[in-house]
Amino acid sequence: MSAYELQQHFHDILIIGGGGAGLRAATAACERGNQKNISVACVSKVPVSRSHTVAAQGGINAALGNRTKDDWRWHMYDTIRGSDWLGDQDAIAFMCERAPEAIIELEHMGMPFTRDESGQIYQRAYGGQSTDYGKGGAAYRACAVADRTGHSLLHTLYSHAMRYDVEFFIEYMALDLIFDDEQTCCGLLAWHFETGELHVFRAHQVIIATGGFGQAYASTTASTVCTGDGNAMVLRAGLPLQDMEFIQFHPTGLYGTGILVTEGARGEGAYLVNSDGERFMQHYAPQTMELASRDVISRSMMQEIMAGRGCGPKKDHLMLSLQHLKPEMIHSKLPTIIDTARTFAGIDVFTKNVPVLPAVHYTMGGIPTNSMSQVVTIDSKGNEKVVQGLMAIGEAACTSVHGANRLGCNGLLELVVFGKAAGELAADSIQSGKSHRNLSNDLIEPLITRFDELRTSRGTVRPNKIRKYLQHTMQTHANIFRSNDLLMEGLKEMRGLWAMMQSELNVADNSLIWNNDLIEAIETDNLMRQATATMTSAFERCESRGAHWRQDFPARDDANCLAHSICSVDDNGNSRFMIRPVRLYAEDTETKTPISFPPEERAY
Ligand code: FUM
Repeated sequence: MSAYELQQHFHDILIIGGGGAGLRAATAACERGNQKNISVACVSKVPVSRSHTVAAQGGINAALGNRTKDDWRWHMYDTIRGSDWLGDQDAIAFMCERAPEAIIELEHMGMPFTRDESGQIYQRAYGGQSTDYGKGGAAYRACAVADRTGHSLLHTLYSHAMRYDVEFFIEYMALDLIFDDEQTCCGLLAWHFETGELHVFRAHQVIIATGGFGQAYASTTASTVCTGDGNAMVLRAGLPLQDMEFIQFHPTGLYGTGILVTEGARGEGAYLVNSDGERFMQHYAPQTMELASRDVISRSMMQEIMAGRGCGPKKDHLMLSLQHLKPEMIHSKLPTIIDTARTFAGIDVFTKNVPVLPAVHYTMGGIPTNSMSQVVTIDSKGNEKVVQGLMAIGEAACTSVHGANRLGCNGLLELVVFGKAAGELAADSIQSGKSHRNLSNDLIEPLITRFDELRTSRGTVRPNKIRKYLQHTMQTHANIFRSNDLLMEGLKEMRGLWAMMQSELNVADNSLIWNNDLIEAIETDNLMRQATATMTSAFERCESRGAHWRQDFPARDDANCLAHSICSVDDNGNSRFMIRPVRLYAEDTETKTPISFPPEERAY
């Protein structure tokens, strides 16, 4: 019997994560489950208003056509082209078709969108967005609240959730998923920072909405909380992750800090220059320039630096120029950028260029799901199987609407579209008044033991040190440009870090209450598992596609590699790699006809 006393909670639906996806799922479940009196709980590591969604800046895509004619099918095509044909087309069609309705719902919830002269929702241009299936000019599809769209979205969804009976459990660390003896997910073990208690949350449907794992890298726009805790729980449950090699580098991280400088600035006309003052993107993406997709721009920037045309004394960054833009426009549409540049770089954007360098921004890979957000696994014969009781949404999920490269402003869209659909599906699956089966202690005890072992690790290396080593390894060996040698060396370093984590970890603080050392240890353990999956999948994918660029395989290879990577990692850091087909077909539900965009050459 465990030395820890467990607090028990019983709900119908449990949402892990209180960011945009989790909140949208929570309200949708309540709305849909209203008649059945469904109980919905949301567990969050941080106060909801500090979830990483708050950091999203530039906008949320929808083919509203407020500025120029638009069509959700053009949006679908752009998303598939952006994904370098790795995105699942049924899921992409689902998202793009529902985007306009999702925006109107947000507007009705009170989201204070910026307006154009005629009072309609303001839409700006963004990277990789075009009209007429790439043959027309730029699309104006990103609905914006100045450059604070994520902040506004999160607060809108949170206040909307307050209208319902969602029970929030704030500052709880999700430790592990609980499965019954039929391999159905039936709950979560969590640790409450404030009281030090361990809690068991039982639920008929568990929805993971825990975000990405950008913190696996040293330079990232992702908050320190972005440690992919849900992804790691899935790995520990013996289930795989998908497409983990695809790491998005945002072209304009503020040099020296990695803080986000929104792509919305380029959408409003800002441009990139090298040390010669040249707009170098003309050589890499002559048609779309600074509004090519992020993978293309980030690689171009690194090539400029490698060619000796970087800026500053170390020639190790590029410059973003806003000086030619109208000050009134910058004040009204990009106020955050004025503040960020001034506060963190001492730069006045009206008179000086802003130093920028690509920084990790988004993790395309995650928990594999079908287009209804149900988590799937692959059996030994390669067959896909739904994991009962478990769904995943948002950046934690790989649904996969972003494939090998996400387009800016499709992230917030994914949160609300799949958050809503998942909440509704979960609510529909609940049978009114169904009780929870008794669970044997044997199913929970090993999860508590793992927590206790981390807590009582008394080696010599502090968790933050190991996290830093890990971030350095990933930044060096799984960066924008990769190769067999770099990845082999990286995998070797990872094995050393696994050994360090297992035998030398030192959690100096023994307490259970607000033990930051232990939080750091748990998060580092989580990051280590995902980093291993990233490095392994990058090593196995012998082609270049989207954000994954292999210098030794510089072409896309559809004949051999048009497939999702599936990777599991065991408790000793050993990985297992498989593949899964990409879904290249969808149905146009308006016209009831099949719709599909077969792979073609990708140029911007
Ligand atoms: O640059 C940005 O504002 C980021 C937007 C996004 O990643 O969707």
